[in-house]
Amino acid sequence: MLRTAAQRMGSGLRSSSQSGLNSALAQQRMMSVVAVEQPPTQHSSKYYMDLEEKFGAFNYAPMPVVLSRGEGSKLWDVDGKEYFDFASAYGSVNQGHCHPRIRDAMVDQMSKLTLTSRAFHNDKLGEYVKFVTEYFGFDRALPMNTGVEGGETSIKLARRWGYNVKGIPENHAKVVFAEGNFWGRTLAATSSSTDPTSFTGFGPFMPGFHNVPYNDLAALEKEFKEDFNVCAYMVEAIQGEAGIRVPDEGYLSKVKALCEKYNVLLIVDEVQTGIGRTGKLLCQEYDGVKPDITILGKSLSGGLFPVSAVLASHEIMLQLKPGEHGSTYGGNPLACAVATEALKVLEEEGMVENARVMGERLRDGLRSMNSELITNIRGRGLFNGITIQERGGKGAYELCHKFMENGLLTKNTQGDKIRLAPPLMISSAQIDQSLEIIEKSIKEFTA
Ligand SMILES: Cc1ncc(COP(=O)(O)O)c(C=O)c1O
Repeated sequence: MLRTAAQRMGSGLRSSSQSGLNSALAQQRMMSVVAVEQPPTQHSSKYYMDLEEKFGAFNYAPMPVVLSRGEGSKLWDVDGKEYFDFASAYGSVNQGHCHPRIRDAMVDQMSKLTLTSRAFHNDKLGEYVKFVTEYFGFDRALPMNTGVEGGETSIKLARRWGYNVKGIPENHAKVVFAEGNFWGRTLAATSSSTDPTSFTGFGPFMPGFHNVPYNDLAALEKEFKEDFNVCAYMVEAIQGEAGIRVPDEGYLSKVKALCEKYNVLLIVDEVQTGIGRTGKLLCQEYDGVKPDITILGKSLSGGLFPVSAVLASHEIMLQLKPGEHGSTYGGNPLACAVATEALKVLEEEGMVENARVMGERLRDGLRSMNSELITNIRGRGLFNGITIQERGGKGAYELCHKFMENGLLTKNTQGDKIRLAPPLMISSAQIDQSLEIIEKSIKEFTA
């Protein structure tokens, strides 16, 4: 709840009088407090959007909706209008908004201990890394905060491994990325990007990064074959920002075979595809692949705050020695408690299987619309994309506005593609209601 200036001053006055401030001065200050205008308690959407426009940066172009509440697969705006959330904060609220068990775990831990830094041990980290490694079947975990930090960490690990284990000459390690990749906004992530919006005007870029087309094994093998100094290939199991690009069946397992053949590490970015999103705990399971390094983020905390992790083998993880990498907040007790509960909730509430079943229901429903507007429907689990054909200069962006009008929120990506990715606990009745909204919106759009 917003505290007024008077309330904030009030607490200051209490401590002032405790420290012996004379009552006349206290009274004088109280007078000036009373003169402060009380802000209204309820604001319009425009009020909030104007504030962002006036005081914020323009690094996003949000849909014109101001959200103030979320529960499960639903969101509400400041006017109380209800929406289905088909964006899930880019796959960060797989367990649904404000899941009570995760929230309680957070509140409970917040009242005990939140941050110690890694200068000391805390009583949560050890149990968390044991839990998370057993949960995903890896030897070791390195906790960070955001997804992009997970990517940075993985590349540092791979370069180290390249020098210490593979025998690449110092400072010559090369990392290969897929065209259309997206793994965040740091300079390293920007350096690997093939999207001009991401990199233009931010150079000079990180050396030693190369791109190959996604889903192109021959191009990848050529890179590996021609240069011994390649230490890693980093790739999304399904490309998210590129428009939910699902690779050919078996792509990852063939990539893994190539990596083994040429002694190159496979880094799979599951920041968005992981934590049940695609109907498996990790999307890599579709190919029966265990990469050398797996990156997790987003829903690892159920959307409560940033928690990421890098999972790897003993050999790779132990390349890092004390002082060589870290993060003040990485592995904090609050993150450990929240992530543990978020993963337990996912499993105990059957969300991975639900994502698989609901995903099929969603895609079947979309197909049965037989809409000429939708030229392609693809996805796994509840990580789905549709491609929209333009009509009279209007396309995916305008259709998302129609969805919003009718009570469903999502955003277009790469111009003509729309992501359909609700929280994984969505029910079949809610999927059906969402399909009705989509169908109604398409009819209105094409009318
Ligand atoms: C596949 C993938 N990797 C990494 C990231 C970066 O995560 P963060 O925004 O938490 O840094 C994203 C963000 O959308 C992503 O989609």
